[in-house]
Order: sequence, then C-alpha cells, then structure tokens
Amino acid sequence: MTIKPVILETLPPDLDKQRLPQHVAVIMDGNGRWAKQRGMPRIMGHQRGVDSLKNLLRCCDDWGISALTAYAFSTENWGRPLEEVEFLMTLFERVLRRELKEMMAENVRIRFVGNLTSLPRSLQDEIARSMEDTKNNTGIRFTVATNYGGRQEIVHVCQAIAREVQGGKLDPETIDEGVVEKYLYTEGLSHPDLLIRTSGELRISNFLLWQMAYAEIYVTSTLWPDFDRQAFHLALRDYQQRQRRFGKV
Ligand code: IPE
Ligand code: IPE
Ligand code: MG
Repeated sequence: MTIKPVILETLPPDLDKQRLPQHVAVIMDGNGRWAKQRGMPRIMGHQRGVDSLKNLLRCCDDWGISALTAYAFSTENWGRPLEEVEFLMTLFERVLRRELKEMMAENVRIRFVGNLTSLPRSLQDEIARSMEDTKNNTGIRFTVATNYGGRQEIVHVCQAIAREVQGGKLDPETIDEGVVEKYLYTEGLSHPDLLIRTSGELRISNFLLWQMAYAEIYVTSTLWPDFDRQAFHLALRDYQQRQRRFGKV
C-alpha cells in the first residue's frame, strides 16, 4: 500500500471558510540561507523561491483567498552584489514571460507595484504586457512588489498630491486618508489582512508601510523555498485564532 502525500487541494477542514483573510501579503525571505545550507550559490535559492510563489498563488486560488501580494525586490535590494541583482532581474523577466499564458488560463489579474521606471527596459516591457493582458481577468488579484519601498511609495504619493495642489486641482483642506489611498501604488486593492514573513526575521523591511496598519503578522522560521501548503495552512490556522480589534474593545 502506498501512502498518498497530503496535497491539501481544497481548504483544510479545520479552517473556517468565513474567516479567511481576503488579502494575504508575503515577505518571501530566506532564499539565500536556503541555498547556503545546501552549499549552493544564493541564486539557486531565488530560483527555487519562484516555485514556492507559484504554489502559494495557486493555493490561495484553490482555498478561496482573493488577493495575494508578494515582496519580490525592495528599494534596498539594489545594495546587493551586482551579479545577484542582475540574476534577479533576469529571473523576473524569464518567469513572467514563461508564466503569462498559464496566468491567463487561470484568470489571474497580475499587477506590479513599486518604482517600475528604474527597472531594466526589457523587464518593464514584460511587466506592462502582463498587466495589460490580464487586466480584465476576474480571478485572484496577484500583486508583485518590485523595486518597492514603503517610504518611497509615500514620497511618491506626496509628490503626486503636491502636483495636484500646485495645479489648483486639489484643496489641501480636503486631503484625507481617502485621497492618500488614491495615489498609492496599491490603489483599489484592499489592505492586507495577514502578513506572512518567512525565515524568522521579526521586521517588515519597508514593505507596505501604510497598508499594513492593521495587518495580522505571522512569522515562521521556514525558509521561503520550503514554504508549502502545509506551512500556509499553519499560518491560516494561527490567523483564525486572532482577535482583530482595530482599536476597539
Ligand atoms: C529573499 O531572500 C529574496 C529577496 C530579497 C530577493 P534573501 O535573498 O533575502 O535570503 P536571505 O535572507 O539572505 O536568506
Ligand atoms: C525583504 O527581505 C525584501 C524581500 C523579500 C524582497 P530582505 O532580506 O531584503 O530584508 P532584510 O534586509 O533582512 O531586512
Ligand atoms: Mg533576506
């Protein structure tokens, strides 16, 4: 008799369908350490990390979670060795080109957030194409933060609002949280309910600073390339035990 591995195709029965996070955000950390543990170059960890992300996206879709946002490259990650940065840029482009057809078939709506104009031209083209091709899809909203920094995003919002004021189109007195929301890269997307960070680090590393105000934070020591459906199941179970109070009693 062979024992079938648990693949968790559908929502595990111990999870409450009514209390799932609508929007999950993930800091995909630990690729380098995963590779190092195996005596491999760091880039091998990034390569494997792509599979984890694909699996998580499909899992969210299977289990009824409507939005996933993944931190792929921070504004600070430019400070890494050039060969690692170049590998990542090429990897993003290659994966995007390779996966677009499948994302279309699975009705995924992909969107990139961050300062995209300083990415390599050929990557910008793939990004634009993927967003354009999938914009009318009605399935899961998949957001990839690339050259993203929460502080940079807030500066971007300030500049946009200042321009509107300068052009006489906006009265400073009317600026409220709703106005700020309108200029965020994530405009139109609900705020993350659950933030998952892999590899044990207890920080948010400049990710979605505004949007994270009331996210529930879950940190696992699992390294990103090892993050699978079982690990996600544990995160959701933990999330469902939280009491979200939003400042009330
Ligand atoms: C996360 O893994 C991936 C990116 C930041 C692009 P790391 O590359 O940060 O892996 P560690 O933290 O060094 O193990
Ligand atoms: C955060 O991971 C950025 C991404 C996952 C893309 P880092 O590895 O860059 O974060 P720090 O340096 O440990 O804070
Ligand atoms: Mg890291």
